[in-house]
Amino acid sequence: MLTLPSRRSILTGLALVPALSVTPHGVWARPEGEGAALPDASASVPSLSRAARSGGRYFGAAARADHLRQDKALRAAVLRDCEVLTPEIHLKWNSLEWRKGQFNFSPVDDLLTFSDENGLRVRGHTLLWDQSTPDWAKREMLSQRDWRLMSEHFSRVLGRYGSRIEEWDVINEPIDTEAGARNLRRNTFFRAFGPTYIERAMEEARAHAPNAHLVINDYGFEYGNPVDKARRQAFVALARRLRAADVPLDGVGVQAHLDLSKGPLDTAGLQDMTKALIDLGLDITVTELDVKETDAAHTTAARDQKVADETRRYLDVMLAFPEVRGVVTWGLTDKFSWLTEQVDSHVRAARGVNRGLPYDDAYSPKPMYWTLADSLGASA
Ligand code: G3I
Repeated sequence: MLTLPSRRSILTGLALVPALSVTPHGVWARPEGEGAALPDASASVPSLSRAARSGGRYFGAAARADHLRQDKALRAAVLRDCEVLTPEIHLKWNSLEWRKGQFNFSPVDDLLTFSDENGLRVRGHTLLWDQSTPDWAKREMLSQRDWRLMSEHFSRVLGRYGSRIEEWDVINEPIDTEAGARNLRRNTFFRAFGPTYIERAMEEARAHAPNAHLVINDYGFEYGNPVDKARRQAFVALARRLRAADVPLDGVGVQAHLDLSKGPLDTAGLQDMTKALIDLGLDITVTELDVKETDAAHTTAARDQKVADETRRYLDVMLAFPEVRGVVTWGLTDKFSWLTEQVDSHVRAARGVNRGLPYDDAYSPKPMYWTLADSLGASA
């Protein structure tokens, strides 16, 4: 197994730069002057995490072991800013077991070794997601309808990682208010086992990881359009049903893939949803924050400011709730963003990279970075 470099070896050789300053009001301020100095990477608690910790929360980002191995600047940024890492792809079923019975644990193990050596925690993403279920498993589920396949998957993954990883997105993206049945996505699990696959999966996770924090994670809650509105209601209704039935559900993940093309955030709708979830005794993690911005006609500075402003508006709502336990961005740098990866190369050539993460593709912190630091710190 390839081992990623440790924090000490990465930090050796990094120039020391001024730390984030804290105003008398406890607000994390952007350093003055040219080139926005980065926080001191040698600080014992990294900067965005330091800001988050001052508000009783954690900050983290999604990452991939291969990117971390290849890219020294990414490692430095992660160690500067993150307390938590989410494996972007390695824990998904189709990454772990692309072919039935052939297991690929080494990218997860790599990421965990890096995390252990550097004192980072890891979020478990994700045990069940239709899009990342291998075709052989889908076929088998639909033809045999035998829960043992699920049981074995949970047992294998949680048996190996359940005590090391404390927080799990047990189910990813179960809601569908448009083509769903009872607002649940007609995914493979639904079609094979019916709507109670959700209850069974949560029970299964609890059986294999009795002390883990078990979460259902979903997207599409932020805007004022009818679909987002229906999704908020459906998410709360699902959580209410599970809590009423004493299903082991500790928290929810709200992905927060913000999108500048969707109009203004529905702040009242977001507040209502968040409050309703908290009233059910759940806590909340912002699990995949980033901002989709595609209007290349504007200057880079204007685009970056829009991204930061949207981030601030969103965090202003969410961080008013102490039950929001952590904020995870879906990547740290525009160099590695699914929002860029998913577009065709000719579209990418025309638009450039999506600028929806804290660092640009050359690892300069953008306004979103300072907004995150400020919002996380200010919510203390
Ligand atoms: O590694 C293979 C490569 O060998 C192959 O040549 C190439 C051809 O398509 O595919 C590569 O795998 C891709 C993988 O990312 C690594 O780049 C998959 O096709 C691609 O589907 C996969 O995309 C990931 C996606 O989830 C599906 O797992 C994205 O990186 C990841 O950002 C995205 O993350 C999801 C969250 O899990 C759930 N919420 C939405 C979020 C964004 O879609």
